[in-house]
Amino acid sequence: MSDATISIHVDLPDGSRRTLEAPEGYRVMEVLRDYGLPIKAECGGACACATCHVRLPDEWVDRVIPALDEEMDKLDEIPSADDNSRLCCQILTDQAIDGLVVKLEPDSIHEQELEIAS
Ligand code: FES
Repeated sequence: MSDATISIHVDLPDGSRRTLEAPEGYRVMEVLRDYGLPIKAECGGACACATCHVRLPDEWVDRVIPALDEEMDKLDEIPSADDNSRLCCQILTDQAIDGLVVKLEPDSIHEQELEIAS
């Protein structure tokens, strides 16, 4: 693992944005969680819960490694998911996604913690 870091911009449902610095080789979900953002991520990154749902802006959809079948199957279980939806536990931090923008979806947030994080 290198010492390089990348930036991830996280848009929260209240309209605020947090910019996080993250080392390479981690799951985006882990970065959000470790910064104390109120992401549920109930399965801890096992692609089993679909509570780490984020949306990517159009310009990022093709720049992030495509979802595997396992992730696609989980996304199918989210009624609000669309072509820009991803499970952020399945996206690894590397230089290719430096500057990534994700919108944390309301269905993946501990609402009682949102005020604390902002
Ligand atoms: S944390 Fe459970 S699917 Fe991502």
